[in-house]
Amino acid sequence: MQLLDGKAVSAKIKEDIKQEAANFLKESGRKPHLVAILVGNDGGSETYVASKMRNCEMVGFDSTNIRYGVDISEEELIAKIQEINADPAIDGLIVQLPLPPHIDPEKITEAIDYRKDVDGFHPVNLGRMQRNLPCFIPATPYGILLMLDHYKIDTAGKKAVIVGRSNIVGSPMSILLARNTQPGNCTVTVTHSRTQNLREEVLQGDIVVAAIGKKNFVTADMVKEGAVVIDVGINREVSDETKSGFKLYGDVDFDAVSQKASWITPVPGGVGLMTIVGLLKNTLEAARGTIYKN
Ligand code: GUN
Repeated sequence: MQLLDGKAVSAKIKEDIKQEAANFLKESGRKPHLVAILVGNDGGSETYVASKMRNCEMVGFDSTNIRYGVDISEEELIAKIQEINADPAIDGLIVQLPLPPHIDPEKITEAIDYRKDVDGFHPVNLGRMQRNLPCFIPATPYGILLMLDHYKIDTAGKKAVIVGRSNIVGSPMSILLARNTQPGNCTVTVTHSRTQNLREEVLQGDIVVAAIGKKNFVTADMVKEGAVVIDVGINREVSDETKSGFKLYGDVDFDAVSQKASWITPVPGGVGLMTIVGLLKNTLEAARGTIYKN
């Protein structure tokens, strides 16, 4: 088994992004600027947004975190999004999910100007991605592609099985791996809560992407010998073993599955770090106006 090392790969790509941000500053007199809106006090979301902001600073971007209490109305949130859409000093805007139940995430996603949608969740970006046109690709799938590319994992003609059909990971990942690109050209199966014979389906996978949000869901008996296993899970449990007070678990039973896999991502230190890289790359492209003209 070989490790798909998100720590090493993300550090290398972030160095490149830092250099490109410095070039952008020299040419334009300003830094790429990402705004993240966070609603409420979800512990996981707070950690992720703090990490996104910290990484922006590390590569020389400006970043702004706008926080609202859980009781902000949908109208107020949309008004703020429209203000940011119109602000030429802001390149990228993300609204951290999940949102409280009284706010419709679809309305919020569509309120964001697709030219600033560095999460790649807007239907315009999703449609363009499906057509293989320039667009913002959702950060986690983008990070996974960068990882597969870095390790020169040949995906063409392989069977990819995705566990989970979320808008954020499973669904866009299925589109990307099926496209006529490298990485891509896979025969893709998307499995989900209604899939029958899940084990048999996952066992077919030369590439398995686990994005179901359940600790140790993918066990060794579900994985083919020699498979490439990508673990997207970040399941947080309270722990007195760590400084943060939380321990992270993937969706894959790493100890057992790593005995069978040819390549595997660890948790932590795998896909999570690559997600940040995807977001940073999108923000840089938004600032440069290379995908959509500014
Ligand atoms: N919640 C979990 N992952 C993400 C992400 O990539 N972007 C946003 N906006 N919210 C998330």
